[in-house]
Amino acid sequence: MTRYLRFPRRSFLGLLFLFSLSTSALYFIYSAPGIVNEYLFMVQARGLQIRENVRSIGVQVLEQMVRGAYSNNTDYAYDFNVSELHIQTTTYLPEGYTYLPSQRCPLKLPSMKGRVDVNMSEVALSEVERTLLLEDPSLALGGHWKPHDCMPRWKVAILIPFRNRHEHLPILLRHLVPALQRQRLQFGFYVIEQAGTEAFNRAMLFNVGFREAMKDLDWDCMVFHDVDHILENDRNYYGCGEMPRHFAVKLNKYSYMLPYGEFFGGVSGLTVEQFRKINGFPNAFWGWGGEDDDLWNRVQFAGYTVSRPSGDVGRYMSIPHHHRGEAQFLGRYTLLRQSKKRQEVDGLNNLNYSPRISRTALYTNITVHLTKELAPVADY
Ligand SMILES: *[C@@H]1O[C@H](CO)[C@@H](O)[C@H](O)[C@H]1NC(C)=O
Ligand SMILES: *[C@@H]1O[C@H](CO)[C@@H](O)[C@H](O)[C@H]1NC(C)=O
Ligand SMILES: *[C@@H]1O[C@H](CO)[C@@H](O)[C@H](O)[C@H]1NC(C)=O
Ligand SMILES: *[C@@H]1O[C@H](CO)[C@@H](O)[C@H](O)[C@H]1NC(C)=O
Repeated sequence: MTRYLRFPRRSFLGLLFLFSLSTSALYFIYSAPGIVNEYLFMVQARGLQIRENVRSIGVQVLEQMVRGAYSNNTDYAYDFNVSELHIQTTTYLPEGYTYLPSQRCPLKLPSMKGRVDVNMSEVALSEVERTLLLEDPSLALGGHWKPHDCMPRWKVAILIPFRNRHEHLPILLRHLVPALQRQRLQFGFYVIEQAGTEAFNRAMLFNVGFREAMKDLDWDCMVFHDVDHILENDRNYYGCGEMPRHFAVKLNKYSYMLPYGEFFGGVSGLTVEQFRKINGFPNAFWGWGGEDDDLWNRVQFAGYTVSRPSGDVGRYMSIPHHHRGEAQFLGRYTLLRQSKKRQEVDGLNNLNYSPRISRTALYTNITVHLTKELAPVADY
């Protein structure tokens, strides 16, 4: 009798154990893959950082030894080439440089000093407007500006996808507007806000922003900019180039390291021609993640290679959040496998929407209610 009872009880406990094990595994796979990814990445990043430190300590020791050998204390000519920090370019123009309104603005301006003082304090939009207009009254409605003492190299539309981050926008603008003025670019700001309750679709917002911005002015360069990314170096030039550009190379939240070689998130820039050629962003990525990887694929399929600023020029700080992030997009891996096929059918060419547009002092507000029906794809 007892023997008869014991067996089921034991297997019941076993089952219970297996069940709890598998649910916690399932939790990590489906509900919190971001946490796991982030954790794994941080572990990896720490490892890299430690190795990096050991290496630079080694080089310092070597430096001391070489210095000791040349003990007459003159500057040694040996180039250690430890990191890009040591070879800060000195080819920037001198302070007294005179601009000519008939000439194109130079690339390496004396006003581009390098390190930007980042202030993460929350600040009212009205205060930022007031300060920026006081600094330069020629800053026009919609955050439009162009240099007067030389001809800008690029007409840059800054596109910012947006939902529910009202405290971030003034922080971004107070840093970015003066930096772009120091770079003597012509620019305008477009905040594309997603209305409705669908999952956030960063990529589709960029497509909408592109189409609307082009109705406004014949921009030749598009910068796709997350609202919480603050540049730390104003030598990170926001013009476009022969190749699509990835600006946000080193993020503080990733210990200032590129998370993976194909990373194309945060802040990136394409000429209008390049963006049209790749058919824009995919519209099918609802929720967080994947759309930047798809853009990377599109760029490769079109025969481009991505260029990046070197060294510490591509450093960014992200504004700390005090609310939950957007939901993860779990279908992204399936979509990414079909990147190539989808490039022709999903992007700028299958997009319908009806925006509400208004202008404020510092940006054009494009509000759109997005649904899946607005970007139909025949086969998927
Ligand atoms: C210092 O040492 C270097 C390397 O030996 C040598 O080339 C240089 O002439 C020395 N300078 C002086 C001022 O002695
Ligand atoms: C430093 O190293 C990089 C890559 O290894 C190389 O491209 C660069 O030319 C080097 N710089 C100098 C000054 O030798
Ligand atoms: C940062 O910004 C806040 C709000 O505008 C301001 O009160 C504070 O003085 C700034 N801090 C620094 C160090 O500039
Ligand atoms: C944009 O405009 C809508 C109204 O059309 C408004 O509700 C929203 O707060 C505005 N967003 C920003 C970032 O100004």
